[in-house]
Amino acid sequence: MAAPIVDAEYLKVISKARRDLRSLIATKNCAPIMLRLAWHDAGTYDAQSKTGGPNGSIRNEEECNHGANSGLKFALDICAGVKAKHPKITYADLYQLAGVVAVEVTGGPDISFVPGRKDSNVCPMEGRLPDAKKGFQHLRDVFYRMGLSDKDIVALSGGHTLGRAHPERSGFDGPWTQEPLKFDNSYFVELLKGETEGLLKLPTDKTLLEDSEFRRYVELYARDEDAFFRDYAESHKKLSELGFSPN
Ligand code: HEM
Repeated sequence: MAAPIVDAEYLKVISKARRDLRSLIATKNCAPIMLRLAWHDAGTYDAQSKTGGPNGSIRNEEECNHGANSGLKFALDICAGVKAKHPKITYADLYQLAGVVAVEVTGGPDISFVPGRKDSNVCPMEGRLPDAKKGFQHLRDVFYRMGLSDKDIVALSGGHTLGRAHPERSGFDGPWTQEPLKFDNSYFVELLKGETEGLLKLPTDKTLLEDSEFRRYVELYARDEDAFFRDYAESHKKLSELGFSPN
């Protein structure tokens, strides 16, 4: 499909959609699932074949039904309402805008958003997103495939400062932090603290402590929230622009 023409009119649509998303996310308290939607659309990217990535393909039933995407229909439906009001915006831009707004309205850093992504109907093969039961080598395999770095892996894992796991979706249960609707560095603080009753740590979270390069960033982000916000904003922007070169 063709890329949208990013002219003054398109930018106006983007800012209207941004306002709608802000209000929907605030009233429905759905920042976490909107961030997860943006990540799951983008996180299928394969740098070698230049397939997958933030291209809106997750809206198609085939991809939406992948096991890793369980629960995302709710977020897709909210976005479908925004698309109906502003048909010019591409799904690809809309989902990434939703991710940026989710971080912003929960108190996280501002992430620069560049519009112009085109939509695709081609669904990547199932299995490109990380498996929460695996260790640090798996994280490297998956994120390096996207063209991302160790720093990106740790900073982006901090997205788990928002939301929770649901037994009926992933088999895991509970939030990572005491305030799952607040974007801060508490994910890293909790990770270093160890087990706390009622809070979740996935194997892929805990493994960040087992590798010295990863652990260095966990320790930095736990003691310095500004460093986390700065790196997170940079890594999130990279994730949201995989395979995309703005025109
Ligand atoms: C939730 C796995 C990275 C954002 C989850 C859940 C799992 C998971 C199993 C629970 C789903 C459920 O039961 O509802 C992983 C793995 C990752 C990863 C293995 C590899 C590092 C990320 C990244 C982001 C992110 C990079 C965003 C930057 C979220 C959010 C939720 C979530 C916000 C909560 C959703 C909700 O509350 O409904 N993740 N994730 N995750 N993930 Fe990740």
